[in-house]
Amino acid sequence: MTIAGKPIPHDSAREHVTGEAFYTDDLVLRFPRMLHAWPVLAPHAHALIKTLDISAALAAPGVATVLTARDVPGEGDSGSNRHDEPLFPAEVMYHSQPVAWVLGETLDAAQQGASRVSVEDEPLPAILSIEDAILAGSFHSAPVRLARGNAPAIDFSPLRFEGELKIGGQEHFYLETQCAIAWLDETGGIAAHSSTQHPTETQEVIARVLGIPRNKVTVECLRMGGAFGGKEVQANPWAAIAALGAWKTRRPVRVRLTRALDFTLTGKRHPFLARYAAGFAKDGRLEGVRVALYSDGGWCLDLSEPVLSRVMFHCDNAYLLPAAELTGLICETHKTSQTAFRGFGGPQGMLIIEEILDQAARRLGLPPEIVRERNFYRDGDTTHYGQPVKDAGRIEIIWRRLKESSGFTERRAKIDRWNALHPHSKRGLAITPVKFGISFTATFFNQGGALVLIYRDGSVQVNHGGAEMGQGLHTKIQQIAAESLGVDSQSIRVMPTRTDKIPNTSATAASAGADLNGAAVADACSQLRSRLADVAAAILGCDLGSVRFSEGRVFTSADAQRSVPFAKICEAAYRRRVPLFAHGFYSTPGIHYDPKTLRGQPFHYFAYAAAVSEVEVDGFTGDYRLLRTDILEDVGDSLSPLVDRGQIEGGFIQGVGWLTIEELVWDSQGRLATAGASTYKLPSWTEVPDIFEVNFLERAPEPSVIFGSKAVGEPPLMLAISVREAIRDAIAQFGAGGPISLESPATPERVFFAIQRARAEREAPLNTIGAIQ
Ligand code: MTE
Ligand code: MOS
Repeated sequence: MTIAGKPIPHDSAREHVTGEAFYTDDLVLRFPRMLHAWPVLAPHAHALIKTLDISAALAAPGVATVLTARDVPGEGDSGSNRHDEPLFPAEVMYHSQPVAWVLGETLDAAQQGASRVSVEDEPLPAILSIEDAILAGSFHSAPVRLARGNAPAIDFSPLRFEGELKIGGQEHFYLETQCAIAWLDETGGIAAHSSTQHPTETQEVIARVLGIPRNKVTVECLRMGGAFGGKEVQANPWAAIAALGAWKTRRPVRVRLTRALDFTLTGKRHPFLARYAAGFAKDGRLEGVRVALYSDGGWCLDLSEPVLSRVMFHCDNAYLLPAAELTGLICETHKTSQTAFRGFGGPQGMLIIEEILDQAARRLGLPPEIVRERNFYRDGDTTHYGQPVKDAGRIEIIWRRLKESSGFTERRAKIDRWNALHPHSKRGLAITPVKFGISFTATFFNQGGALVLIYRDGSVQVNHGGAEMGQGLHTKIQQIAAESLGVDSQSIRVMPTRTDKIPNTSATAASAGADLNGAAVADACSQLRSRLADVAAAILGCDLGSVRFSEGRVFTSADAQRSVPFAKICEAAYRRRVPLFAHGFYSTPGIHYDPKTLRGQPFHYFAYAAAVSEVEVDGFTGDYRLLRTDILEDVGDSLSPLVDRGQIEGGFIQGVGWLTIEELVWDSQGRLATAGASTYKLPSWTEVPDIFEVNFLERAPEPSVIFGSKAVGEPPLMLAISVREAIRDAIAQFGAGGPISLESPATPERVFFAIQRARAEREAPLNTIGAIQ
């Protein structure tokens, strides 16, 4: 291969760093007479709206109109699954929920207008935590169960213990906040630019709200300034409001959330509470687990069900669960609606099993990495949901190579010596694996489409169903198209994502963007190539089978000296009336599962990886420093090594943020108290490990995926679990070696108090052996 697999920079890298790249909100200048929207926010977390008086707002200078439920010609709801997301709610379900929208000539006028809308409401009791929801029996849906083997038998395991793990949420903090611009197009339809991962669904929601067929709605996503799952369904309400405003006023309307509004109104990664019981053999082999999982779904259903399924599918991480009994419940709380976030439940599921394994190791007096490796899947094993783990051997290969390349064993000994000399700070080391299932758990989503156009000068336009959010999808698509047509990447232009080019697309999510759309593009290109090959064979006077496309020229393998430029073949094809455009399609073969029992083969394949992290923890403050991380990631045959490296580094650091510093705090009124960068700490340059070694597993093609590659968008995030486990390892060094309980995120405060508990245990050791019978 000459272009696919080459380390070329992201196709917009220059524009990203110079500020020249356009995002949705940069397009405002293209729309004269644009109106700006601002929401009227509900004053309580849970309340009934008694009256909504908009008259003063309508009279305010610069206010064009106020949008309320009366303006909706279709269905006033943006919910994608259950239609439980009223745009103009009669019952307020979370603090600051928009109840009306003011459209102004300027943003300032809209804001002034919004402050003049008077809302009278009757506050109702609000449920603000998972624990309160459990007490009140407040759930979005019936419990989901996934079971294998004889889980009750763990009551007789040599080591058994119970525990609880609280896992915090995470704000997406995409740099570009939610944004949409809608206008009436030239022929009476409605068009929107939207920062959305799912233009098709945004189109559907707009059509539904306006009560018009989908063919009247066009949605375009130029690129997103980050999304991370936060624009998978949560881009829809803003686009719907913009479209409704444009429909009513016949003028372009812009909705753009400020950072504070975006924080306050949009959903986050699901917080979880896991209550578990586990049974182990004395050698550290897991005999079974029982886990009750509770997620904080927030006010509406959103994607909470598929997120919960993915948690349940990933409670094994890379380990065989011989017996498992998992129960999952989605709590309905009066908070933002929690949603997709990089990993989509995988991170929470894996954190739980890693927690359990570390607890077991410290109770058994075994090194955690030994307990981990004793529990790895082996070839021939199946997961607790019944899917064979075909290439389980890769886990051990990655583990062994990474242990070697990171010098794990020698460093462990060195750290022990260092710790013996330092009473007030301790170093910790941990290695953790990742096995992440690739495919949408909603099976029908696993399809991709493409439309490839070749012009007579040999230049190519590629349209596909995926959206660019910084992850480098368009770069990979460009490489796939260039490789497939044998032209250079400059000849390929990848177009912004539009619903009038490719219909009925899936969200760009589940890390499957390149797998699905890349395969569809390759399909279209191979049809075009075979049409062009006919023409080339005639021109070159050679066998069809000997025609080769490479580096912008068409050759015959029979005589390497004879070749014709690709553009010439295109022109000749046109003159022979050969169509120079083709659509391509791909659907992932062989995946299925029963959503009731969660059993089947939900994933096309697994992405594997492992990371070793070393931290130094300060015993006075609980603060920590990440000294070194080594990563070995299985990306198959990388489509684009620079892009993949960026995904691994960025995903890992985002995971470190989730697990160690980012903390969402809601106050007793249900207001998000951390609604800005001043109170919500994000990872930055300081969190990047001093030594950061990222490598790909070599010679590891995945035969059933485009050019042997593997998905890379989400799996690296979960490598950050190695940092949490390294912190726990360091905390343990302050104590007598017993189990360490640590809520997530492991903020310095929590680490400090965990150190205090460990120190106390050193003075009066717990009888951990008592748990072994
Ligand atoms: N990388 C960047 N720079 N920005 C993003 O928003 N989203 C992540 C990941 N990497 C994201 C990103 C998420 S949540 C997913 S599912 C994948 O990219 C989606 O893109 P892909 O399917 O093309 O990998
Ligand atoms: Mo990613 S959470 O699947 O958008």
